[in-house]
Amino acid sequence: MVPLGPTRASIHVCEASGCRSLNSEQAVDALAERLTEAGVTDVAVKRTGCLGVGLCARGPLARIDESGEYFEELTADNLQGAIDALAAVEPGQQPTGETSEFASRQLRVAMENFGLLDPEDLNDYLARGGYDALQKALHEMTPGQVIAEVSTSGLRGRGGGGFPTGLKWTTVAKAAGPDGKYVICNADEGDPGAFMDRTLLESDPHRVIEGMAIAAYAVGASEGYIYCRAEYPLAVKRLRHAIRQGEREGILGKNIFDTRFSFEVDVRLGAGAFVCGEETALIRSIQGGRGTPRPRPPYPALRGLHGRPTLLNNVETFAAIAPIVRNGGAWYASIGTPKSTGTKVFALAGRVKNTGIVEVPMGITLREVVYDIGGGITDDHPFKAVQTGGPSGGCIPAEFLDMPLDYESLAEKGSIMGSGGMIIMDDTACMVDVAKFFMEFCVEESCGKCVPCRVGTTHMHNLLAKIAEGEATMDDLAALERLAGMVKATSLCGLGQTAPNPVFSTLRYFRHEYLAHIEDRQCPANVCPVAQREVAGV
Ligand SMILES: Cc1cc2nc3c(=O)[nH]c(=O)nc-3n(C[C@H](O)[C@H](O)[C@H](O)COP(=O)(O)O)c2cc1C
Ligand code: SF4
Ligand code: SF4
Ligand code: FES
Repeated sequence: MVPLGPTRASIHVCEASGCRSLNSEQAVDALAERLTEAGVTDVAVKRTGCLGVGLCARGPLARIDESGEYFEELTADNLQGAIDALAAVEPGQQPTGETSEFASRQLRVAMENFGLLDPEDLNDYLARGGYDALQKALHEMTPGQVIAEVSTSGLRGRGGGGFPTGLKWTTVAKAAGPDGKYVICNADEGDPGAFMDRTLLESDPHRVIEGMAIAAYAVGASEGYIYCRAEYPLAVKRLRHAIRQGEREGILGKNIFDTRFSFEVDVRLGAGAFVCGEETALIRSIQGGRGTPRPRPPYPALRGLHGRPTLLNNVETFAAIAPIVRNGGAWYASIGTPKSTGTKVFALAGRVKNTGIVEVPMGITLREVVYDIGGGITDDHPFKAVQTGGPSGGCIPAEFLDMPLDYESLAEKGSIMGSGGMIIMDDTACMVDVAKFFMEFCVEESCGKCVPCRVGTTHMHNLLAKIAEGEATMDDLAALERLAGMVKATSLCGLGQTAPNPVFSTLRYFRHEYLAHIEDRQCPANVCPVAQREVAGV
């Protein structure tokens, strides 16, 4: 709803999947209707993407721009608070920054436009400096200078591996590509509990496209693909819409901004398997083949899509590019820690009061994320562990709540940064059950191409089930540890190589829980079938 006269107050309502699943469309329609009926003509009702403050589960969420007030769980029946707060905004009142504790701990770089623009409106993006970085790169910088800024920024790939982005871009730029090169955005996000990339694409699709276009200019590519999960229909719709808008306005296509640079980009739908997010499987899937990984080298940077040099980066990696080009690599490197620069988007989930998407500087402590931003544990239970990195990651126990969140610290504690899923657990979680859950995921998602992963994960799952049921012996535990080492060492791709990680980390910190299941035939958290059987008196 756009006001007829000058805007006195504006309310931004989230229209990303999280809030839409809680009926935000009906709430925003009702709000616009109520204001129209009341003859209010100086209030703007703006449909935005995710507000990105970690309150997604309490949607539909809205924020009054001028006062900074949030309104949670909006429905057609509880709009009065928001209407009264809009009426209280003084003419000429300027928008406030974030004042709340949980929001002030966050730092937005990839998400800087969250909650501020309509993701379906290119003009909104342009009004917030959108495509300025692409113009700057094309008009004022050589490809080499763009890559130098990305290298200086210290940015590392946000898709999980943390590979230095500048180094990858340099490799693709140097590779001979007489028949052309490609840029691919990996939007196949499939970790349980992860929804960072979906939210970025739904909330600010042009931002990712701009990052890809800058990358294409830097490495000498003129074609790109966004490989997006088919299970993300809103992200796909907004991406396609953004591409069409960009093409119409001459921001994508031939001779962009009157230069010799051309870039065409298209969306490809994911084939529905977690392993299709692995880069070689993804490329095969785009080519129309079955999405199974192949051995590397050759790396996609040298021989990728259709055998040509291909730059493949994650959604969040591309979302960080425009601000790096705009503000300089040194600016980005000044955020975070020396080896893990910049910010990271996390999806907070599990037993924490505020769940949703947040962006924080690298190096922030786990405690700050769980307690200051997340608001602490649901029902004030004690914090037990956090699972980072999904099925490839591990569990960090309470004794490390004050550790900094960066690539090195997480690896040292036996987990990984991963793509940013963060599942918080309290004393109601059983760590054997958690390991079993992730192993079951790997069994289902293993593509079956290599034996250690296909057979090994199934055996590991059977052993974990046996432990959970109170039927296992210490020999079974030893067999589980042996198998985990073998699967890690001999699997072909990252799925199998990292599938044992949740077993390793739960054994490292919660071995006593395994022993309780085996020796005492008890599940300390009363989650596993062994405990239920006892309760039932079987
Ligand atoms: C089984 C498996 C699944 C993966 N899924 C994703 C994914 O969904 N998104 C992603 O960006 N990277 C995923 N990766 C990592 C990619 O192979 C690749 O390293 C990454 O997209 C590179 O981008 P980056 O350098 O920007 O991180 C996956 C890797 C494996 C082994
Ligand atoms: S030997 Fe069996 S497992 Fe190996 S490739 Fe042939 S059919 Fe497949
Ligand atoms: S490790 Fe697993 S997912 Fe990867 S190629 Fe082998 S069977 Fe497929
Ligand atoms: S605030 Fe609505 S999905 Fe995040």
